[in-house]
Amino acid sequence: MSQSVLQETDKLIELILELKKQRNAVILVHNYQRPEMFKIADYIGDSLGLSIKAAETDADVILFCGVKFMAETAKVLSPKKTVLLPNLDAGCSLADMATVERLQEAKRKHPDAAVVSYVNTTADVKAISDICCTSANAVEVVNSLKEKKVIFLPDRNLGRYVQQHTDKEIILWDGYCFVHDKLDADTLMEFKQKYPDAKVIAHPECKDELLKISDHICGTGGMAKFAKLDGSKNFIVVTECGMTDKLRQDVPDKNFLSFCNICPYMKSTTLPLVVKSLVQNTNEIKLPEHIISNARKAIDKMLAISKNAA
Ligand code: 13P
Ligand code: SF4
Repeated sequence: MSQSVLQETDKLIELILELKKQRNAVILVHNYQRPEMFKIADYIGDSLGLSIKAAETDADVILFCGVKFMAETAKVLSPKKTVLLPNLDAGCSLADMATVERLQEAKRKHPDAAVVSYVNTTADVKAISDICCTSANAVEVVNSLKEKKVIFLPDRNLGRYVQQHTDKEIILWDGYCFVHDKLDADTLMEFKQKYPDAKVIAHPECKDELLKISDHICGTGGMAKFAKLDGSKNFIVVTECGMTDKLRQDVPDKNFLSFCNICPYMKSTTLPLVVKSLVQNTNEIKLPEHIISNARKAIDKMLAISKNAA
């Protein structure tokens, strides 16, 4: 970055920190965001963990640097707070692959199945689900259910991973995250051969053949924990590219190599958009009461059976 761009960035950061105080706002920044966004964060982390943290604060405003389904989850857990998403176009193609209509159709087709929704779903889909899960607790959640059949949505790769760790019948949803799904196992194998002493940490939204050659599978919230505790010095991080920046900050005594793709939705949030949102209160997330209360039930059910959400 040139000197003048750096100065401009510093000015924007200073302005945001001032606006944050004026509005009694808490700023949440997902692990996949641009590195400069980390500098304005009160909390940096995985999608559900951030919303849980924000709900515990007495802030009036939550500004979520992430994607829309994450901001909706923040609203569900903090209905009285104003929730802002700096860029309303920051969607998620995985979450958009599960619609209320399609889920209702699947429920009609499998009336005896429980519905387990990954946190990467819209609030209206969560509201008609029996229970939510994260990538960290998906297996635990599914195994806790009394039903023998489970509609698992929207990620087919995470669903397949769950299928390998349960006796339940999993009805897979044909959804996927293009950022993770296009990471290729053969290319990862070549990478591993180049760095034979590096351990591979992969997000469970990656394809099965890639997960099979990984050493540890976890969501973004579990990656730093694993790297800190594991005896290895070098890690290959298989997920969205921003995660490596975050791991280098959190675990400075270890080396992280990226095997990654960029999520354009995550990178579409910028400092100027944060300023605009805080000043003009643009892009407030609003949800109907019944969606908030029903989505909340699905999230609370998950938290009641699993404290292991990250
Ligand atoms: P985490 O829930 O692991 O933070 O992941 C969010 C996400 O968007 C994965 O692609
Ligand atoms: Fe959605 Fe994939 Fe981007 Fe995560 S990385 S926000 S799942 S498109």
